[in-house]
Amino acid sequence: MDIAELQQTLEREIASIKSEADLRAVRDRYLARKGGVISNLLKDLASAPVEERRTRGSALNGLKQYAETQLEAAQKTIDGRPRGNAIDVTLPGRPPLVGHRHPLTLMRDRVEAIFLRMGFLIVEGPELEDDYHNFEALNMPAEHPARDMQDTLYLETPLPVPGGRAATLLRTHTSGMQIRYMETHQPPVRLIAPGRVYRRDGLDLTHSPMFSQVEGLVVGEQVTLADLKGTLVAFARELFGPDRGTRFRPSFFPYTEPSGELDISCAACGGSGCPMCKHTGWIEVLGSGMVHPAVFEAVGYDPERYTGFAFGVGIERLALLKWGVEDIRLFYENDLRFLEQFPL
Ligand code: DAH
Repeated sequence: MDIAELQQTLEREIASIKSEADLRAVRDRYLARKGGVISNLLKDLASAPVEERRTRGSALNGLKQYAETQLEAAQKTIDGRPRGNAIDVTLPGRPPLVGHRHPLTLMRDRVEAIFLRMGFLIVEGPELEDDYHNFEALNMPAEHPARDMQDTLYLETPLPVPGGRAATLLRTHTSGMQIRYMETHQPPVRLIAPGRVYRRDGLDLTHSPMFSQVEGLVVGEQVTLADLKGTLVAFARELFGPDRGTRFRPSFFPYTEPSGELDISCAACGGSGCPMCKHTGWIEVLGSGMVHPAVFEAVGYDPERYTGFAFGVGIERLALLKWGVEDIRLFYENDLRFLEQFPL
């Protein structure tokens, strides 16, 4: 048999090897000790003349070696390929996808946990609200600028809502829950009311037409401004850590007198001033104050006997500050790459 021709066929057959079985077949056909084409030819040489034995012998041995190295190479390519349905137990496992709570849910849970430890009750109320609970009973009468169409989302047709009055708007804050709770319960009161609120704002870096707040209300016979300050500073320390400074600053809200806002020292610059804190070193966290006597009168509490404090805090705002998120829109886009980054 012509050795060059044999080599050509061998090459063609090796090139078409696709599987372990193909490989074994080619190896057996050429190299099997019994019946392999090359092995047979080598055996035949024993009876050949000396001269032929030498030349043909070295050519055949060369072909044998060639076949062996080529088959070894073919073996390697097969090993590197996934094999049909076979399971490769050496591959690293694929971890199961673990769900994540949304950062706003995480923050709400944290706020709730802090106030629960301080003995607060958690209540919830309707997002569809009437003028009375959202504004009027909170000492914001009909001509109050906060009731403007510019700021509030009104309903085209009033809808029924618990409490007797038809809802005409989407609540602009959770403060209406102060009224709803006091209307139906006697003091003492110590509650927080988390929930969604709506404003007539476009979506941008710092605004959203829908966001979430937590309202707080404490009413009793001896509740003072010191209780308000102590509670809010304890809350801020618990949430942001004892290293952040706190500052209580006078402000105005129609439903509290006096009113104050709580600031924390800026985490970005440590209080020395930067664009994040508008170069003041402080960042506003929440609004609060001592419940206005007019609010107590609206719910039938005796303002001579009871005092109280209230506060309202934005959950998005807390999350932005706590985790250094720069764009509020990230909380609503639900990109998993963003959501996965928050501590469970
Ligand atoms: N309702 C206010 C807002 O939406 C927050 C607020 C301020 C709530 C003072 C209060 C308060 O209870 O006393 O911005």
